[in-house]
Formats: sequence, C-alpha cells, structure tokens
Amino acid sequence: MMMKQTLAVVGVQWGDEGKGKIVDILSESYECIARYQGGHNAGHTVNIGNRRHVLHLIPSGIFHPAAKCVIGSGVVLDPLAMIEESEALDKIGVSVAGRLFVSNRCHLILPYHRVLEAAIELQRGERKIGTTSRGIGPAYEDKMGRRGLRACDLLDPATLGDKIRAQVVEKNRVLEALKYPQTIDPESICESYARYGERIRPFVIDTSAYLNDLIRSGKKVLFEGAQGTLLDIDHGTFPYVTSSSSSAGGAATGLGISPKLIQSVLGITKAYTTRVGGGPFPTEATDKNGDEIRTRGNEFGSTTGRPRRCGWFDGPAARYANQVNSMDSLAVTKIDVLDSFVEIPFCTDYKYKGSIIKDFPADAEVLAQVEPVYKMLRGWQTSTAGIRNWNELPSAAQDYLKFLSDYTGVALSMVSTGADRDQTILLT
Ligand code: GDP
Ligand code: IMO
Ligand code: MG
Repeated sequence: MMMKQTLAVVGVQWGDEGKGKIVDILSESYECIARYQGGHNAGHTVNIGNRRHVLHLIPSGIFHPAAKCVIGSGVVLDPLAMIEESEALDKIGVSVAGRLFVSNRCHLILPYHRVLEAAIELQRGERKIGTTSRGIGPAYEDKMGRRGLRACDLLDPATLGDKIRAQVVEKNRVLEALKYPQTIDPESICESYARYGERIRPFVIDTSAYLNDLIRSGKKVLFEGAQGTLLDIDHGTFPYVTSSSSSAGGAATGLGISPKLIQSVLGITKAYTTRVGGGPFPTEATDKNGDEIRTRGNEFGSTTGRPRRCGWFDGPAARYANQVNSMDSLAVTKIDVLDSFVEIPFCTDYKYKGSIIKDFPADAEVLAQVEPVYKMLRGWQTSTAGIRNWNELPSAAQDYLKFLSDYTGVALSMVSTGADRDQTILLT
C-alpha cells in the first residue's frame, strides 16, 4: 500500500475492527504513533508470537522498539490506567521510558467520573448506553464544561488539591440530586493524584509542538483512532456513541496539528459487523448465524469481556463512514470468520417505511426501524486462515471483497486472515 508521510487510521464501524493488529503492522514503517482521542475504554489487541496483548491507552505502535508513541490532548487520561499499562509492558521487556509522551493538555479522568457514569447509566434504565464504565463520558463533559483538570494541573502539587476539592463539592451535589447512594471523599483522591503526578511527570510534554516538529522534519507519523466512526460523538449513532471524535477529523483537533497535515486516511472494517453496548444495529443477526460469527470470531469485548452483538456487513453505514472520513483505502479484517457460511448476506440499502432511503439516518429511532435490504453473496466454505497472497484466496472470497470495495468506492490495501501479524494480505 502507498505509505504517505502521515496516515490516520480510523475504525469504520462501531469499534473493534482490528485497529490494534493493523496499526502494529504499519508501525514498522512509522517513526511515531499518536493516539488522538478516547481513553482506556479502547481495547486494541496485538498478537506477537504466542502472546496476546491488549492495549487500552498506549498506542499500538509500542511493540516496535524504535517507535515513539504519543497520547494526544484529545485523549482523556486516567493516570493510574497509564501507570499500570506502562508497568505491565515493562514487565514483559517493552520499555516505554523516553519514547512515550503524554500531552500536557490531556484532560484527566478522576475516580468521581466513574461514579457519576454509574449513576447516570442507572437513571437511563432500559435506555442505558452500555458504556465501558471507565468514566469517559463524564470526563469529556467536564472538558466541554470548561471545568476539567488536565495533565498540566497534575504537575502542580501546590494547587492540585484545591482544584480537586472544588470539583468534588460539585460532584457530590450532583450525586445527591441523582439520589445515588455514594459520596466522594476528596482527600484520598488528592493524595493518590499527587503521587500519580510525580509518576507521569517524565512523560508529559507539549505533544502538539513535538508532532509538528517531527512532521516538519519529514518524519512519518501515524494517527491512531480508537472506537469507530459510528461511535463518533458528532457523526455516530447518537446518543449510543462514545464522547469523542473518533473519525478522521479528530486527528487534527486531538493532536494539535493542522488538518492539512493529515495526508491519508486508512479505514479499518471487519468483513461483517459487531457492536458492544446498546443502540441500533440494522444488520444484527440475532439467530444462530450471529452466534456462529461470535464463536468463530471470538467476539467478546477486549476491555469489558462482554459478548459482542454480531451481524452482516452494513454497506450504507460503510458508505456513510467514507462520506465522513474520505478514506484512501480500506483494510478488511476477519475474512476468515466467514469461511463457514454457504451464503453471506451483504446489506446494500436501508428501507424505511417501505422506501429506500439515501442518507444515513441521524435519528437513532429511525435507524432502529430501518429494514436492511440484502444481496446474497456466495460463500466459499474453505479455510482462508493465514492466507498471505490475494491469488490464494478462494474466488468467492475475492468476489466478496471486490464487491465490498466496489460498493463503498474505496480501494482495498490490506486483507486480514487471522489475528497474527503475518496473517495478512498486503495489496498495492
Ligand atoms: P480494535 O479495538 O479495533 O483494535 O479490535 P479488537 O482488538 O478489540 O478486536 C479485534 C479482535 O479480532 C482481536 O481479538 C484480534 O486479535 C482479532 N483479529 C484481528 N484481525 C483478525 C483476523 O483477520 N482474523 C481473526 N480471526 N481475528 C482477528
Ligand atoms: P476500540 O478502540 C467498541 C462503546 C461502548 C458503549 C459506547 C460508549 O477497542 O474499538 P464509553 O465507555 O466510550 O462511554 O461507551 O461505546 N465503546 C466501544 N465499542 N470498541 C471500543 O473501542 C469502544 N469504546 C467504547 O461499548 O456502547
Ligand atoms: Mg477493541
């Protein structure tokens, strides 16, 4: 595939498309890998040898010793999650010292964010979002509400305690109003966050300045998205979304670089669709086919272990993701999971109240009611696991992938045939 100096890697669907695996492979060719949004709600799996690693906060380039990794200002940082993840990496011989950088402008997740999230999800009852319970939404709320604490605050022990105490007064008022049976004790947070500040101090820099310098000097930089386009706060299936800008535009705002510096965009999509948590999912297969996909694809959340909802490829949603991201190419993952099917439904259109609709619905209620129109594509019923050359794919699998590419209007640059690094077809 053509490797531009900068590349944004984005999820096309509702997350878990295999971004971790693909970013790990591409990281060999990039000097820096920068996460631009989300937090430790993400779960990016990287298989190396016989070991499976799940990264939540640290970029998926970390396993390449020469790669520099950046956590940009668009990320919400749980300092303890970062410390624990760094320590776990250190234990297996992957050193982050001197090559992991955290933005001084990152907003922080504090323990009260998780408590507030639990309280709000409880209030929503049946309409709950089904979040990862990491405090992501409330942390972004505080950012947008202009009251959040940032990494730079963590580094100023003289004022940190008072900033935390002031926030806790407000949070306890909200919890009381929600009649939630828990209050927050500020002192233990002040004490632990002062310690975390000292731990993360060596990592904290102005990452916008750092990235702009790298790009100006001709270095290759990959922008790693978490979640996926349909979980984007602006463009996703609101309100069943995450609270950040996971689509390509987020790379500019979340890293402090000009949109002019995003030279290319790679979309990652599964050959079918999954979703974790609540919200509309037009092509969901609630029958035995859904179970077969889940079993074959081992579709259980990398962060929460929840079973993922499974279904067929959603063409209108992928076209919409291309409208939002303008993708230069697609990496299609997990084609091997479809090996067992005689026929594979591919959703080409949505019908709403009897008519085909052109635009992707803004209203989740409408999306919940659309009826997918399927074209039945031929299955191949032979193993594609581990295939590394396009020509070795069964012709029906080639046809399926070509149909997907023609339908979306996006060229394929990679096809993934297994979870391991080398189970990959690279196309030009
Ligand atoms: P991410 O959040 O986009 O990085 O994706 P996850 O890591 O949450 O989920 C993808 C899962 O599929 C992981 O368990 C990967 O190891 C696995 N995976 C990735 N590519 C393939 C593939 O081509 N085939 C199979 N069978 N598994 C894959
Ligand atoms: P990666 O990066 C899949 C989902 C949650 C929930 C909604 C909001 O591994 O693809 P949040 O905790 O973010 O407020 O939850 O978003 N969600 C993900 N689903 N993959 C992810 O990340 C996700 N991160 C959040 O399940 O529906
Ligand atoms: Mg994941």
